[in-house]
Amino acid sequence: MEELVVTTDHTSYPVFIGEGIRHQCSSLLYDILKERSKVLIITDETVAELYADDVVRSVSNALSAGVCKVPSGETSKSMDVYHKVMTACIQEGLDRQSIIIALGGGVIGDLAGFAAATYMRGIPFIQMPTTLLAQDSSVGGKTGINHELGKNLIGAFHQPAAVLYDTETLHTLPDKEWRSGFAEMIKHAYIKDPEFLTWLKENVHSLEDIKDSQLLRFLKRSIAIKAEIVKEDEKESGVRAFLNFGHTLGHAVEKESGYGGMTHGEAVAAGMIFAMKVSNRLGYSKWDVTQEAEWLKALGYPIEAPSQYSSHQLIEVMKNDKKASKGNITFVLLEKPGSPFLETVDERTLAHILEETKEGGVI
Ligand SMILES: NC(=O)c1ccc[n+]([C@@H]2O[C@H](COP(=O)([O-])OP(=O)(O)OC[C@H]3O[C@@H](n4cnc5c(N)ncnc54)[C@H](O)[C@@H]3O)[C@@H](O)[C@H]2O)c1
Repeated sequence: MEELVVTTDHTSYPVFIGEGIRHQCSSLLYDILKERSKVLIITDETVAELYADDVVRSVSNALSAGVCKVPSGETSKSMDVYHKVMTACIQEGLDRQSIIIALGGGVIGDLAGFAAATYMRGIPFIQMPTTLLAQDSSVGGKTGINHELGKNLIGAFHQPAAVLYDTETLHTLPDKEWRSGFAEMIKHAYIKDPEFLTWLKENVHSLEDIKDSQLLRFLKRSIAIKAEIVKEDEKESGVRAFLNFGHTLGHAVEKESGYGGMTHGEAVAAGMIFAMKVSNRLGYSKWDVTQEAEWLKALGYPIEAPSQYSSHQLIEVMKNDKKASKGNITFVLLEKPGSPFLETVDERTLAHILEETKEGGVI
C-alpha cells in the first residue's frame, strides 16, 4: 500500500492507495471513525451492486452504516438528486457527529462531498474513489453539483477527512472510464511535470498499458501533483486554476453532448488540444498540435468531437463557465509542458478556431 498526505492551510489528510484496501476501512480509518456516531455511505447503483456490501462490512466493526444509492452517471449531480440525498441524511438520523463516505467515481465524490459540506452546515466525509478519474477529483476538496445552465456552478470547498483508494475496484471499470480518467492524468503531466509527460508518451500506447503493473506508479505521481497544487492554492485564487487546462471547451462539449454522451475525460482531451491551438494562434507557443492529437487519438480520444457542435452554442456555454468573468472567456493556455498561464480569449478568435476545426484544419 502507498500513503501520501495532502496538506492545506487549514487541514491535512491521508491518501491510502492499494489493492483490496476497501476491506480495511475500520483499521485504516480508525482514528476518524472512532469519534463518529453513524456513517452514511453514498454511492451509485452500479458501484453499490459491486462494492457497497464490502464497505458496510468493513466499517461496521467501528460504526453502524446506512447506504444511500443514487442513479449512476452525471445526471445525479443535480438539485433533484441532491435533495434526495439530504432527505436520506435526515431519515437516517445523521447528526453533527456523523460522517459520510463517498463510494464511487467523481460524480459521487462531488455530490456526496457537497452533501457533507452543507448538511447541518457541514459534517466530515471520506472519499473512496472507484474510478481512475477520481484520482483527481477525490483530492482537493472541490465538491458540487451542476445547474442546467452550467456545470459545477453550485458547490463548496470541503476537504475530505481521508481518501481510501482501492485499486482493485478499477478491475471492473469499463474501458471508456479508464480513458476518461487517464485524460486527467495526462492533464496533470502537461501542466506540471514535463518528465512525467515524456514518460507517459513513451510508455502508454493503449489502455492496456495503463492497467498494467505501472498503475500504482501513475496514480501516486498524479495524486502527488494534485496534492502539490492544492497545497499551494487550496481555493483556486492562483495556480489551482491551471487544473482547468482543457476544461473551458471540455465542459462546453460535455454539456452539449448531453452529460453522459461523452465522458468528462474525453471532453477534456478534446479541450486540451483546442487550448494548444488557441495558444499557438495567440503566438504564445509552437505546439505540433497534429502530433499531440495523434497520441491522444491513438488512445481512443474523440479529438474532433467539438466540430459536431455549433460554434456559437459552444461559445455561449463557455461564457457561463465558472472561469468566465463578466462574459469574458478565460482559458488555461500552455507555452510548453509545465508552463501554464491564464488568458482571456475573445469570442471572434475562438469562433475562427472552432470553424477551422470543423474544416479539419490544425494549427
Ligand atoms: N472535484 C473535482 O476536483 C473534480 C475533478 C475532476 C472531475 N470532477 C468531476 O468528476 C465527474 C466525473 O467522474 P467519473 O468519470 O468518475 O464519473 P462517474 O462517477 O459517473 O463514474 C463513471 C461511471 O463508472 C461507473 N463506475 C464507477 N466505479 C466503477 C467501478 N469500479 N466499476 C464499474 N463501474 C464503475 C459509475 O457507475 C458511472 O457509470 C464529473 O462530474 C466531473 O465534473 C471533479
